[in-house]
Amino acid sequence: MSPEILVTGGTGVLGRQIVERLGSAGAGVRVMSHSGKPGTLRGDLLTGEGVERAVRGVDTIVHCATSPFRKPTQVDVGGTGHLLRAAARAGVSHCVYISIVGIDRASYPYYRIKLDTERVVEDSPVPHTILRATQFYDLILTAMRFMDRLPVMPLPFGFLGQPIDSGEVADFMVELALSEPAGRVPDVGGPEVRPLEDAARTYLDVMGSRKRIVKLPFPGKTARAFRSGAITCPENRYGKIRWEEFLRADREANHGR
Ligand SMILES: NC(=O)c1ccc[n+]([C@@H]2O[C@H](COP(=O)([O-])OP(=O)(O)OC[C@H]3O[C@@H](n4cnc5c(N)ncnc54)[C@H](OP(=O)(O)O)[C@@H]3O)[C@@H](O)[C@H]2O)c1
Repeated sequence: MSPEILVTGGTGVLGRQIVERLGSAGAGVRVMSHSGKPGTLRGDLLTGEGVERAVRGVDTIVHCATSPFRKPTQVDVGGTGHLLRAAARAGVSHCVYISIVGIDRASYPYYRIKLDTERVVEDSPVPHTILRATQFYDLILTAMRFMDRLPVMPLPFGFLGQPIDSGEVADFMVELALSEPAGRVPDVGGPEVRPLEDAARTYLDVMGSRKRIVKLPFPGKTARAFRSGAITCPENRYGKIRWEEFLRADREANHGR
């Protein structure tokens, strides 16, 4: 019999690609979101409303929901605790959680929240798998587009990244969801480790722009950690799709060029 899988955050960038793939793999899939989008079960990790109902009859939870800008501690840490207590009562046998590479090597507020959430997952009686991934290309592209509105592109100097295609992360998450709980599995990153300004140059080239990049020196411990490669995993180049390929595909899909 095919497993019943609940994807929290199944309306988000990563979650919706997981939902598509699980559906194609023949799993029973339900999506939980707090916005009550069509085709989803309403469940709010901030208030707990609807969570108990969403986990009833579920075998596996793929936990992608996050709220980095609105009450992140309450939603991510508190909400995950609530979700997993309900899951334990409902007899859920596996929770797959997506986290971020290097959260224990760079002290950044959202990273501390992810680390605390990992602990909640590890301490729960529900057997778990945790995958840490590097930044998704979608996120980098959003940041580039934002800065591209300015007359020059200001960027922190020397921040090393290893972004990855979110579809490739979704592939791995599905593999993990359809396997036995495995605890913390090896990190995944993209095929290229490079400074942010190089990625910006590629972005501008693909956009056909000659805009100047202004490299800003950022002081402090966190910036030092980012420059030292704290959020990369060079030994784990899981992703095959390169940044330039992603950008060209995105441009073609959105502009027909
Ligand atoms: N983006 C990256 O570069 C990156 C890299 C590595 C790991 N990750 C991790 O991957 C996961 C997914 O990231 P993403 O970029 O795909 O996120 P996203 O697009 O921002 O999606 C967030 C999801 O969380 C749901 N959500 C927000 N508040 C909620 C609440 N109170 N109750 C229930 N659901 C709520 C949203 O659903 P509704 O708004 O529809 O309710 C949405 O589906 C996160 O855990 C993130 O930390 C991200």
